[in-house]
Amino acid sequence: MANDDFTKEFRERTKASAELYRRALHLTPFGVHSNWRIFDPYPLFMKRGRGSRIWDADGNEYIDYNMAFGALGIGHAHPVLVGEMRRIIEDGTIYGFETEISVKLAEVLTQRYGYDMVRYSTTGLEATLLAVRLARAFTQRKKILKFEGCFHGTHEQVMVSVKPSIYRAGHPRKPNSVPASLGMPDELTNLVVVAPYNDLEATEKIMREQGNEIAGVIIEPIAMNMGVVIPDKEFMKGLKELTEEYNSLLIFDEVKTSGKFLRGAQDYFGIRGDIMVVAKSIAGGYPLSAVLARREIFDVVGPNKTAHGGTFNSNILSVSAAYITLTKILTEDGLRHAQQLSQELARGYEDILQDSGIEAHVSHIATSGTIYFCKEPVKNWRDFLRYSNFGRWYAWIMRMLVRGVIPQALGFDEQWTVSVQHSEEDVEKTLEAMKHSVREIKGEFKRLSVDEVL
Ligand SMILES: Cc1ncc(COP(=O)(O)O)c(C=O)c1O
Repeated sequence: MANDDFTKEFRERTKASAELYRRALHLTPFGVHSNWRIFDPYPLFMKRGRGSRIWDADGNEYIDYNMAFGALGIGHAHPVLVGEMRRIIEDGTIYGFETEISVKLAEVLTQRYGYDMVRYSTTGLEATLLAVRLARAFTQRKKILKFEGCFHGTHEQVMVSVKPSIYRAGHPRKPNSVPASLGMPDELTNLVVVAPYNDLEATEKIMREQGNEIAGVIIEPIAMNMGVVIPDKEFMKGLKELTEEYNSLLIFDEVKTSGKFLRGAQDYFGIRGDIMVVAKSIAGGYPLSAVLARREIFDVVGPNKTAHGGTFNSNILSVSAAYITLTKILTEDGLRHAQQLSQELARGYEDILQDSGIEAHVSHIATSGTIYFCKEPVKNWRDFLRYSNFGRWYAWIMRMLVRGVIPQALGFDEQWTVSVQHSEEDVEKTLEAMKHSVREIKGEFKRLSVDEVL
């Protein structure tokens, strides 16, 4: 199949999306309200979701492993949540006051993740913004260290070296701080020190030079914005020790991972950050994020001290949804089910890819995984850039989509999420679609550079 043909069937099946896209383009840049949804030849427009399934504007049904970029660990329209929320919404949506349920949720969150105190916000970006501010206020320092290829939300404090091109990224072991957006003042970019992910020696060297100026080290403990990169346990242990040595705060950004493991990825490492950010799946698809930390760190918050506020913080819908999700749906049993299915999916993909002879490997943990279309292991952003075959990846996505499977969030740096509502049958159907799809993506593919893909 020629490269150009990969979108043909997709375009034939999705005419309503194409039409909505045409209308949206006049009104909205790229027709979408989040840059991460830009998709070639055009994004799918959806109209309904239930369980593990989602339906597009043309009525095509998909097994959904995007799950709203990992925000739906409980799947679409979970009957338990829908039933309770119907009742709750009758009493209003937002009060501008705290409620008993906001206290109960704080009890659940602090106990589940193991911290003294918590503050709610609405989105992941607001929560990482607060985490960075807390680190600066607590340490009285300015700089933040982040890792190349990690993403912490669309705000100026951390929008640095998120997906830097190879031409701008600098030395692999002492990367440049590359602004990830126009509109980033140099003064802010320069406050962000960048280290290579999963490279303790290089990070240590950078900390030796600048550690005394670093307020906080922010990291995705398992990187889920360059596929799925599981760092060495020794790296995380060393990083924890470095932050202790230099009195910098370790910030675990678990926006994605907080809902994929029972207590977050911190459990996988047996290491706790000083500050933890949780969001996405914890509220079952309603917008809620939270920052957790020790009591002494939260002591800096308050009037004439460190600012934190938000009209929609602690709104009754999000807080109730999170409470129901965490206590009744995203439980140990629920997560075990999703993790087992995710493991089966990963094994199935691995077998099929191996039989096909296509150069690829699967990286998998908890409820998520990714297929890297390359032989070489991907341990950081530079590996990802150098080895990944984005052309083959795109062809694979297209072939799965026309077979009724959204195999992952539709970005080349994303991963699949299996929800508590996925089933054995979903996995079987997905692997069947995979068997047919790999036959069609065997040809030669140009190794598109990240600049061509972004
Ligand atoms: C690790 C991580 N941190 C922060 C964010 C930002 O979250 P939000 O999109 O809710 O602002 C994301 C979003 O994908 C993320 O993956």
